[in-house]
Amino acid sequence: MLTGVKKYYRSSYGKCRSNKKLIGKTVIITGANSGLGKATAIDLALRGARVILACRNLEAANATKEEIIYQTDNENIVVHHVDFESLDSVREFSKKIHATEERVDILVNNAGASQLGNKLTKDGLHIAMQVNHFAPFLLTNLLLDLLKKSAPSRIVNVSSRFHKNARLNLNDLNEAPAVDVITYSNTKLCNLLMSNVLSRRLAGTGVTSNCSHPGFVDTNICKNMSYIEWLGWKILAYLFFRTPKEGAQTTIHLAVSEELENVSGKYFANCIEATPSKQAQDEKLADRVWELSEKAVGLMPDEKHI
Ligand SMILES: NC(=O)c1ccc[n+]([C@@H]2O[C@H](COP(=O)([O-])OP(=O)(O)OC[C@H]3O[C@@H](n4cnc5c(N)ncnc54)[C@H](OP(=O)(O)O)[C@@H]3O)[C@@H](O)[C@H]2O)c1
Repeated sequence: MLTGVKKYYRSSYGKCRSNKKLIGKTVIITGANSGLGKATAIDLALRGARVILACRNLEAANATKEEIIYQTDNENIVVHHVDFESLDSVREFSKKIHATEERVDILVNNAGASQLGNKLTKDGLHIAMQVNHFAPFLLTNLLLDLLKKSAPSRIVNVSSRFHKNARLNLNDLNEAPAVDVITYSNTKLCNLLMSNVLSRRLAGTGVTSNCSHPGFVDTNICKNMSYIEWLGWKILAYLFFRTPKEGAQTTIHLAVSEELENVSGKYFANCIEATPSKQAQDEKLADRVWELSEKAVGLMPDEKHI
């Protein structure tokens, strides 16, 4: 019975069908030492890409690098440190990439966390907004020159269906909603709004930006939950959730599939286009959040490439 239920759910998961090789291409994946990021890194390494694992835990990242090399026979795997709780760290990471890389063909904005509480970072930003939105916003802006130089190139943002629960306060993006899940949802809406602006401002450059919803996936995303929440998550995970490899399919599809070369500003789930919330499609809201995000990260004129 249980096997039947699992089989039924699995039959509805999308799968990336592209055999596209990525030899000569450079990919950056944030949060690549675990869960969806790691599964994406393994797939893109199998396709022959140079894969840069952008991670805050170097020990875990180096262990992942060894595992990827062992599994894929691709030795072109690089680890660089970045901690999204620090905007200085994001700027340092970008400097390293500019010093060492000629090109960036695919940027996968995957790193993210839930249940981070209501602290402010040393940059004075709400920790969840910074880790899930402001830091990837800054990183993407800093890498746009390399992405444009490498066109056709792609930005893939790992968002979530949870964006539909968002309640953003435009007077204060760092306002902490009473419930953690709303904070998380706000950050995932911001991923879509960033992609909305990128797709419009990058039109004609050969750089695309799209968002994925991976489905519910059994990863370490539950690590900050209370014991009861964690237990509930693990039971659901055992019954219904995807494996990281299954969950990464939509992100991989957006990163490599040939038929998506000119598709930008879209939201995909199960490897097919899906409809995001009305808010996510609101261009005025997207432009306003972009403007507020530029202020929040202190984006300098020489850091703006669009
Ligand atoms: N799992 C799901 O059901 C689900 C559903 C929808 C969307 N998503 C999204 O999928 C993405 C990947 O999450 P996951 O489920 O694979 O969870 P995960 O296994 O916890 O992976 C998250 C990755 O992000 C990294 N990260 C967290 N905080 C960071 C920071 N301050 N600086 C740099 N890296 C940081 C983690 O690094 P550490 O290992 O050092 O913590 C880890 O590598 C997230 O954006 C999440 O919102 C997940």
